[in-house]
Amino acid sequence: MTFLSLQLVQFRNHRKATYSFSPATTIVVGPNASGKTNLLEAIRLLSTASSFRGAEEATLVSWGKEHAQIRGEVLDGKETTRLTIHIQVDGDSGHTQKKLLVNNISRRTQDFIGHLPTVVFAPHELELVNGAPSLRRHYLDSILVQTNLAYKHALAEYEGGIRRRNKILERLQEGFGKRDELDFWDEHLGLHGTTLMEFRAKLFKFFVEQRNPMGIFFYTYIPSVKGISIKQRLVDTRERDIAAGMTLSGPQRDDFTFRFDGHDLALFGSRGEQRSAILNLKLLELRYLESVLDKKPLVLLDDIFSELDDAHRRLVFQAVSAHQSIITTTDERLVRRKRGLTMIELS
Ligand SMILES: Nc1ncnc2c1ncn2[C@@H]1O[C@H](COP(=O)(O)OP(=O)(O)OP(=O)(O)O)[C@@H](O)[C@H]1O
Ligand SMILES: [Mg+2]
Repeated sequence: MTFLSLQLVQFRNHRKATYSFSPATTIVVGPNASGKTNLLEAIRLLSTASSFRGAEEATLVSWGKEHAQIRGEVLDGKETTRLTIHIQVDGDSGHTQKKLLVNNISRRTQDFIGHLPTVVFAPHELELVNGAPSLRRHYLDSILVQTNLAYKHALAEYEGGIRRRNKILERLQEGFGKRDELDFWDEHLGLHGTTLMEFRAKLFKFFVEQRNPMGIFFYTYIPSVKGISIKQRLVDTRERDIAAGMTLSGPQRDDFTFRFDGHDLALFGSRGEQRSAILNLKLLELRYLESVLDKKPLVLLDDIFSELDDAHRRLVFQAVSAHQSIITTTDERLVRRKRGLTMIELS
């Protein structure tokens, strides 16, 4: 699989631009605030339909404009797939609409994702170690929606189900509605939530079985529900959920921890250790995507070399050398030159 080109219209600071990429390495070089991270963000949007910055869709449109477009072409075998995202913001109401198209045909999010698998290495990912659990869950989802149709489907059903169940809980909390309205949603969340947890557990099993490229790191899955089915837990804790007006247990409360040499990296890790743990995890993620998909993911490296020492830089280069990669940097001297290199200069 090769990511051929990207066309941006009114996407953040990119007014109108087209970029072509090498099947090997493309280096995007430019000073601070020239739009390097924005460019990778656009590619990641084509991959997962959501921003790696966790940004609201309205903020993706160039300031003062109402419409943005991202288009990309992916070559897979002999077939070229065109991926398009339109974002429309209503200037008055602020209401945002996102449209996803594959070969000019409108698609649901779950059918849009999967055409362009990517792995991102970016400095903001250090937050994965000690940031909020929601970041870690979002990270797990971003891997699994790219690899498993069943996961994508279960996630869409589960998230829809949680919203519906929470609405009912809010009404019950206020003294309206009937408790048995929850029965259907307990069943629904039990079914799809179990699928989510099974895939997450399998992913961690894969991590454990791998040889770590960067040290003895352990990533431990902490499921919200253990030793009992999700449905039974929902039934058992129904009154507590009603009192809270929301669903308090299930995969929307899962988490995972980072450990090194027996200690919790969020609490005791040095910044260097935390960075290595993330790089190590990213390399395992790359292996996982490769082992499940029959294509090699595109690797997006956002200005990570300035923070790494020589040994780590070499490890990352080695690990991604067999992949198509797009690397941003403010200083091209940090990036090793090799054949088949394309340069994109932003100013
Ligand atoms: N919606 C938007 N419309 C216009 N400009 C925007 C929008 N959102 C962000 N920007 C601007 O885009 C510019 C480039 O941001 P970006 O993060 O891509 O820079 P960068 O090249 O990665 O810089 P650095 O080297 O500091 O990481 C910033 O000045 C930012 O303020
Ligand atoms: Mg940047």
